[in-house]
Amino acid sequence: VGSEAINTDIITLTRFVTEEQAKHKEATGDFTILCHSLQFAFKSIAYYIRRATLINLTGLAGSANTTGDDQKKLDVIGNDLFISAMKGSGRVRLLVSEEEEEVITFDQYPHARYAVACDPIDGSSNLDAGVSVGTIFAIYKLAEGAKGTKEDLLKPGTEMVASGFTMYGASAQLVITMKGGAVNGFTLDTSFGEFILTHPNMRIPKKRAIYSVNEGNSLYWEEPVKEWVNSLKYPTEGGKPYSARYIGSMVADAYRTLLYGGIFAYPADKKSPKGKLRILYECAPMAMVFENAGGLAVDSNMRRMLEVVPEHIHDRSGIFMGSEQEVQKVIDFHKRHQ
Ligand code: AHG
Ligand code: MN
Ligand code: MN
Ligand code: MN
Repeated sequence: VGSEAINTDIITLTRFVTEEQAKHKEATGDFTILCHSLQFAFKSIAYYIRRATLINLTGLAGSANTTGDDQKKLDVIGNDLFISAMKGSGRVRLLVSEEEEEVITFDQYPHARYAVACDPIDGSSNLDAGVSVGTIFAIYKLAEGAKGTKEDLLKPGTEMVASGFTMYGASAQLVITMKGGAVNGFTLDTSFGEFILTHPNMRIPKKRAIYSVNEGNSLYWEEPVKEWVNSLKYPTEGGKPYSARYIGSMVADAYRTLLYGGIFAYPADKKSPKGKLRILYECAPMAMVFENAGGLAVDSNMRRMLEVVPEHIHDRSGIFMGSEQEVQKVIDFHKRHQ
């Protein structure tokens, strides 16, 4: 390998965030510090997932969380790692986690200006099979004079200042976006211990014939959803049917959809009229990533996902997200039923 083939000007996440901060004169550096703590949470969660089968971290913890899921041992550990990292940043006032019934307030930092919502391990039912899982996060900036109560988080996704997710797969990937900004993808180089910018300015293809949905729920689906999926499988005029891809970890299905295009859906249905996925730490942060990458995200009422306001911190919603033209098809099938 000639030396010219080696990149000696690597953009790490730390460098990226530092350069972003420099663009904003008013920036205090708090967000940069918060990002350092997020990085550490991702690295440590990735580490324990990789070692799980070696150090007896597979299987159930023996408890259930507020949303009714059986917690895996790694759900509990991932949650503890994430909470400690956020607390350690000294920049977070409030934290909502899938694994915590109530909002956590860090009263030792009454002047911290950020609120964070997280799904420490998304796709945890896949953990013991070694299938990709990840962490989803949403970051809100508290308004001047905010009380620091959960009401500060019961806001539409349009209020987020940043969001993203990781996927712990063949390598650990981090996708992050800021309000009104581009979507950037990083890959963890385990020997450096750094996330390296490998996917700058990610743009989702406008269309792609791939759908990703748990079709085992089709008995419970509403008519427009049934008709839409049927139209993909049985195209008219000799068209080619769509491919189905469903991992069952939203982070992995979302990461593929971002790169290849297509659509991921978890609709509300007759069994789960409010949907399954949770607004604050699953639907909203993903919706911001997809919109900022040039895609769309809507709920089961065909409302823009980012404008949906949760009433409670663990509220759920149906979701359809992906390539613009694929989501538009879903919207069109729903319009015909109005
Ligand atoms: P979590 O593991 O954080 O509880 O989330 C599980 C979610 C999401 O990852 C995935 O898309 C979906 O549940 C899968 O649900 P089904 O098993 O019902 O398809
Ligand atoms: Mn869960
Ligand atoms: Mn999840
Ligand atoms: Mn989870």
